[in-house]
Amino acid sequence: MPLIKTKKELDLKLNSHSSDKKLGLVPTMGALHKGHMALIEKAISENDLVVVSIFVNPTQFNNTEDLKKYPRDLSKDLELIDRYNQEVIVFAPSVEEIYDENVRPKRYDFNDLDKVMEGEFRDDHFNGVGTIVEQLFDIVKPDNAYFGEKDFQQLCIINKLVETQDIPVHIIPCPIVRENNGLAMSSRNERLSKEMRLKAGFIYRTLQTAKKKFGTKSALKIKEWVKNQFLKEDDFTLEYFEIADIETLNPLKRKVKNKKYRAFIAVYADDVRLIDNIALN
Ligand code: PAF
Repeated sequence: MPLIKTKKELDLKLNSHSSDKKLGLVPTMGALHKGHMALIEKAISENDLVVVSIFVNPTQFNNTEDLKKYPRDLSKDLELIDRYNQEVIVFAPSVEEIYDENVRPKRYDFNDLDKVMEGEFRDDHFNGVGTIVEQLFDIVKPDNAYFGEKDFQQLCIINKLVETQDIPVHIIPCPIVRENNGLAMSSRNERLSKEMRLKAGFIYRTLQTAKKKFGTKSALKIKEWVKNQFLKEDDFTLEYFEIADIETLNPLKRKVKNKKYRAFIAVYADDVRLIDNIALN
């Protein structure tokens, strides 16, 4: 499996393939897990050639400590990808290769999709995501690009990016992959103790109960209930729980027929920040 570190090499490699081949891109920050593997396998099944990018993007971290602690293991990632017979190109550039000297996010207008939830608690996070994803689209020029629904707000932002910047790529959303206890797969789970990782199934169980309540209770009542569940739990600190319209991400005030809603949550388990979400209707 070819490992490519520069834009120039990648360009050469991609140019050596005929232009009528379908090209898929799976952008990642490495520390690959089964969630990523599901994206890669879907990309392989729908394209002739797949690029997996591995790049821990500094401009989307609002917290330097979080960036420092983000798990990195390129050789393990390469081993995992090596199992696929079909050609998968790994693009793992350095920070300088992507940003030169200017390690700063661009500014975007995401029509306020970036002002709530993750955007409220992580300054500039989505400008950083937009900056790297736009660059990757420009470098790879994929027909299809694959993103997990665990980062549902990110998915909305990327759809908006593609629309406003007029980028010719299909964004393919992929369902959340979960550990046996329901915990959403995430590279950050590696930083949890074994005990905490097991206990963290509590987050998804709470989302499932919130979903059950959604049929009969108001958003306000459900939010109160979730808050109370976390107040009773010493192991977790709730950062936010929100029920939002999946188009605008505006918090739900009054249900509107035919609109779709999702519940979103961010929780600290020790010093590890975990997010998850669930479709409500
Ligand atoms: O979801 C991620 O891992 C990252 O936000 C992405 C899309 C690879 C951009 O750095």
